Amino acid sequence: MQQFVIRPEEPDDWWEVEALYDLCFAPGREALSSYRLRDDVPPMSGLSQVVRDGQDILAGAIRFWPVHVGDQDALLLGPVAVHPTHQGEGLGGFLIHEGLRAGRTKGWDRVMLVGDAPYYARFGFTRLTGVEMPPPTNPDRVLGVDLIPGGWDGITGPVTRWSR
Ligand SMILES: CC(C)(COP(=O)(O)OP(=O)(O)OC[C@H]1O[C@@H](n2cnc3c(N)ncnc32)[C@H](O)[C@@H]1OP(=O)(O)O)[C@@H](O)C(=O)NCCC(=O)NCCS
Repeated sequence: MQQFVIRPEEPDDWWEVEALYDLCFAPGREALSSYRLRDDVPPMSGLSQVVRDGQDILAGAIRFWPVHVGDQDALLLGPVAVHPTHQGEGLGGFLIHEGLRAGRTKGWDRVMLVGDAPYYARFGFTRLTGVEMPPPTNPDRVLGVDLIPGGWDGITGPVTRWSR
């Protein structure tokens, strides 16, 4: 059984993680509206993680960004990607579970993302109504999960870039 090591993303990992995302996502990923929420905002250190295999080759990565939803704060999960040679081995699930656990430990109340509901439902994500991503975003793909009971209750409004 292959050994994997998970650890926080360091600045030196940046371009390798970008290359993995380029491999795993369609060209033009950075034109997506969710990237406008990340412009000039660094990913959350400590929460963004990489997984490396026994040869130190990058097998997967997850990043989190802080955002505002209305006048409240939330974590934006993504991108998350696993190298095609390791997909279906549970690494994506591991990265997401670990990320949610770490976010809760660090005192965050809620996480959102733009993604495939059939995949993210297994982690507790459900559609967020009243949370408006910058257009164009399919509202059916705007999903959230509570990190504390009722974490998303009453949270509505536009999702905006972190400004603190
Ligand atoms: C999505 C991704 C991160 C999942 O990582 P992974 O390590 O392959 O996932 P896991 O091994 O934890 O889970 C595999 C399960 O997820 C399912 N799955 C993967 N992508 C899915 C999707 N888009 N929709 C529904 N189910 C999906 C698989 O069918 C498999 O199902 P099973 O458990 O019933 O067999 C990875 O496949 C990937 O990098 N894909 C390309 C980039 C991407 O789409 N990222 C997500 C952005 S929304």
